[in-house]
Amino acid sequence: MPIPRRIIACVTAGTLWTGALGLAAVGAGVATASQAAAVDNGLAITPPMGFNDWNAFGCNVSEQLIKDTADYFVSSGLKAAGYTYVNIDDCWMTHTRDAQGRLVPDPVKFPDGIKGTADYVHSKGLKLGIYEDAGTATCAGYPGSLDHEATDAQSFADWGVDYLKYDNCNNKSDGTRADFLRRYTAMGDALKATGRPIVYSLCEWGQQQPWEWAGDIGNLWRTTGDISDNWGSLKSITDANLPLAAYAKPGAWNDPDMLEVGNGGMTDTEYRTHFSLWSMMNAPLLIGTDLRKATQATMDILLNKDVIALDQDPLGKQATVLSSAGGAQVVVKQLANGDRAVALYNESDQPQHIATTAEAVGLPASGAGYRVRDLWQHRDYQSAGSLAATVPAHGTVLLRVGKDVHALLDPALVDAGVGGTALHIQPGKGADVTATVTDLGTLPALNVAVKLTAPNGWSVRPKGRTSVVALAGGNTLTTTWHIDVPAGTDTGTYALSGTVSYSGVGAHAAVSSPLSGQVAVAVPPPAGTSYLSDLPWESASNGWGPVERDTSNGETAAGDGHPITLGGTVYAKGLGVHAPSTVAYYTAGGCTSLSATVGIDDEKKNSKGSVEFLVLADGKQVADSGVVTSTTGGHPLTADITGAQVVQLVVTDGGDGNDSDHADWAGAAITCS
Ligand code: GLA
Repeated sequence: MPIPRRIIACVTAGTLWTGALGLAAVGAGVATASQAAAVDNGLAITPPMGFNDWNAFGCNVSEQLIKDTADYFVSSGLKAAGYTYVNIDDCWMTHTRDAQGRLVPDPVKFPDGIKGTADYVHSKGLKLGIYEDAGTATCAGYPGSLDHEATDAQSFADWGVDYLKYDNCNNKSDGTRADFLRRYTAMGDALKATGRPIVYSLCEWGQQQPWEWAGDIGNLWRTTGDISDNWGSLKSITDANLPLAAYAKPGAWNDPDMLEVGNGGMTDTEYRTHFSLWSMMNAPLLIGTDLRKATQATMDILLNKDVIALDQDPLGKQATVLSSAGGAQVVVKQLANGDRAVALYNESDQPQHIATTAEAVGLPASGAGYRVRDLWQHRDYQSAGSLAATVPAHGTVLLRVGKDVHALLDPALVDAGVGGTALHIQPGKGADVTATVTDLGTLPALNVAVKLTAPNGWSVRPKGRTSVVALAGGNTLTTTWHIDVPAGTDTGTYALSGTVSYSGVGAHAAVSSPLSGQVAVAVPPPAGTSYLSDLPWESASNGWGPVERDTSNGETAAGDGHPITLGGTVYAKGLGVHAPSTVAYYTAGGCTSLSATVGIDDEKKNSKGSVEFLVLADGKQVADSGVVTSTTGGHPLTADITGAQVVQLVVTDGGDGNDSDHADWAGAAITCS
């Protein structure tokens, strides 16, 4: 993760933002968790739920926004669903303290002050949160609380504040853990001394492995740098936060940052993954979108009570990763009533079949099978023990599974998907794909019928039977479908969708389950040698901003990079990416070699940037640059890709987080026959 420019601008001193997990070693003389006072404030027994303005509004916070949000919490059902805290982030105050050294709310933004705003929020049965910083100034440059802890905590208590997010900009730190403990303990003690119950949220971005010590000081702690509203950010934060499960417990939670659901930078599938995984990870559920403009799809996600129940489960156990391979992850959470929540999470860019069993997720054996509730479909099924689905790219199938003999009356869980060998089709050509439906239940599925649809203008027809009167438990209906893609179709990935309809042997109405698959419409490169930046890619994912053609990565908008420069040499051609990144090209078995000069762009010379460049041919690694850093310039890289259908250019973060990882595939070219 790069250092946001906004923060660079306001940093005055100190070691800021390692952005890396597991990077800093514990220094000598560091206080241990047992030496620190336990927070013991009786708050956040389940993860806090509410709203924070930062992700959607930045510095444009106001009393009106907070009041409108509180009103909306009540009218929309968010309050009833458990959302309680309406939180103000940075920029709420004036630039100077008053004559008594107290913070002053901006009188234009907050005409009734924080006190008046808190009174209003409280009158709605809700709670108010605020933001300060364990440094000389906040990240946006307003007065910080360092060395003013007692005064500021008292102001918060006097105003009726119920929650403090405590940031880490301008911290004057010597970078030791002891200093972080000192600064964050000082405010924790000051809050305690006021006698008002105030949830204490530490926001030091995971710099000093706060999961190891913050549980004794506060109620939650950020584990990473800031989230941003894109898939790369969501994926890397999830990967960083999942392994920290052991540190979470009632009153003390890992905080992978606020929600981006509804902000427009991700698909609804990705936002459902976001909400599913945040709930599985016992993350605070702090809405970060403009609720006054929220769509129905956004509200359906935020109000999913089945999913919220996982986050708020009284056992308070963060989910752990049971298995992970090729981006297909099985994530499991133990629940207070003995059930298990199971996320079949596909972090890859293609649909994946993901499977586990009730036994593997920790449930006792059951001859009568299990009740399986699909928490996004809001429907109950029965399984004899298998839990499986074909999950769309970046999607999550979220199940709640328990031993339950009565589930035999529910329709059988089915595992339906579209796969087969020909998932690449060239424009103007056709290919076969295979749809399968497997009954995972104990009893048969009746009147099973499969329908497959392709994008408008394509033709899709079955080459075999598409229905069966009874599909016994454990059996599979397989149908081959022929798909023709019209000439002139743009390259890219296209969703195939469909449904499987069937009924159970109980008296239930027919159910219909979605069937998902994906076809890549792709044109192989021409014969000879071509620059990759002149060819259409099949898919591209990138840590920050889009992948750039012929410039470096500028982190945000398309086209915001600079000429690709490595070790003083400027390259006219190439790809500019930011770790973690994968760019895939369809090569149709016709190419032989790939070559590039790779490295961290000179624009990040001597920064923390470090990455590793890999080339994969049909998933198999065929080239590896080793770790390259911002001081090492360009490195030649060649790969033998003979016969591969798909070649992927992958950049990983080099092991120290994604800070400044501006990675160039300079002059990247491919040779085909
Ligand atoms: C930091 C925090 C963010 C936000 C901003 C406000 O970047 O990590 O969550 O509070 O400061 O300036």
